Amino acid sequence: WTATRDKNCKLPMPKGSMGFPIIGETCHWLVQGAGFHASRRQKYGNVFKTHLLGRPVIRVTGAENVRKVLMGEHTLVSVDWPQSTSTLLGPNSLANSIGDIHRKKRKIFAKVFSHEALESYLPKIQQVIQETLRVWSSNPKPINVYRESQHLSFQMAIRVLLGFRISDEEMHFLFHTFQEFVDNVFSLPIDLPFSGYRKGIRARDTLQKAIEKAIREKPLCTQGKDYTDALDVLLESAKENGTELSMQELKESTIELIFAAFATTASASTSLVMQLLRHPAVLEKLREELRNCGLLHDGCLCQGELRLDNICSLKYLDCVIKEVLRLYAPVSGGYRTAMQTFELDGVQIPKGWSVMYSIRDTHDTSAVFKDVAAFDPDRFSAERSEDREGRFHYLPFGGGVRSCLGKQLATLFLKLLAIELAGGSRFELATRTFPRLVSVPVVHPTDGLRVKFFGLD
Ligand code: HEM
Repeated sequence: WTATRDKNCKLPMPKGSMGFPIIGETCHWLVQGAGFHASRRQKYGNVFKTHLLGRPVIRVTGAENVRKVLMGEHTLVSVDWPQSTSTLLGPNSLANSIGDIHRKKRKIFAKVFSHEALESYLPKIQQVIQETLRVWSSNPKPINVYRESQHLSFQMAIRVLLGFRISDEEMHFLFHTFQEFVDNVFSLPIDLPFSGYRKGIRARDTLQKAIEKAIREKPLCTQGKDYTDALDVLLESAKENGTELSMQELKESTIELIFAAFATTASASTSLVMQLLRHPAVLEKLREELRNCGLLHDGCLCQGELRLDNICSLKYLDCVIKEVLRLYAPVSGGYRTAMQTFELDGVQIPKGWSVMYSIRDTHDTSAVFKDVAAFDPDRFSAERSEDREGRFHYLPFGGGVRSCLGKQLATLFLKLLAIELAGGSRFELATRTFPRLVSVPVVHPTDGLRVKFFGLD
């Protein structure tokens, strides 16, 4: 609780408050969500100290400060997730790897998200999205978009990324176990019966058993580049890099990939639906772009035309997805530890302290975005490109050597969802007003966002 300053450094410590012993300000943070960091930032400045999830931490906001942290990976800082996250993800995860081991693992993973691999996942992602929208439209009742988007991103991870062929019953069981895991990934590291931490460990063990069974039963692709799913690519890529992945490494990588994709993609999908509902003019402009590119004809999507290259050529669609991720960045920030004492914004970051760089607060306070709170996709157009001022003002996927590996996949998924929503669905808000948003563990509406979907006439 009493992490101390570096006495050899003349700079002052960051301002801030540390709350109660052991729990620090964790309860305030859980209750206040995004408001917690915003209120302290206003009071103490862009670099302030607090105490969360069992340890002291320095929270860092602002493009220049974040740049220094992210570019200082392996020299000034090193990754350092809260103890609960670190234990639950396991020692072989990317999240827990540093230095050369991290570099080697990323090289193996890179192929999983290459252009060629994405092209091979595209038809399956599209199929999962279309099936989901069909089910939503045939339901006479409104859909809880956030909850259903979690199912959708889980399906994408299990069926597309991992290629598991499991029954609906097994899928249901895996989903609920996984949710228990995610709910407790950020918990106080107190291993007592009924504690969140213990629940998370139990969920992880159950998941690992189920995943081992699914991996053993999975037919592996042996046809070179004719990929069927990411697990095949991962195994092939490991071989090319002179490594065989052990079953334990595969299980941890699998859980890490689902974890990285699950809540983030569900959050962004829900925000996308919400913004399209709030801004009918944006939805119409998207439809116009689809029509102009020959993808939408007589009110129907021309399915055969959807390829990676023509999806990438849709400039307005790109602006819409970027703007959703700017205004509603699913990940609020990342965790690091100071490897040496260094200076940030005129204060000292003492060696050994945890540092959390902030994504959402950095977006919200960046001066490069005009009318920062407005949803305005055109700010990313070629004429305005407000993000050109420097890359660390806009960082929904983080930055530096630990930036998001699934960035292209997530973007492709969101673009496909937007295309299906704009070209193949009708939907309207089922409540009188739009819900309030909360930000822990990821941004999502308090009521999940209730929307009625209709099939196309
Ligand atoms: C890392 C955001 C989707 C895989 C990250 C980081 C961010 C992020 C901010 C960096 C965290 C840090 O600095 O510590 C997002 C967002 C997503 C998304 C906003 C969706 C909209 C995905 C998907 C996958 C994925 C779909 C893979 C299936 C990863 C992995 C890392 C990572 C493996 C760790 C990289 C490393 O430690 O080297 N993501 N992510 N992400 N993401 Fe994503």
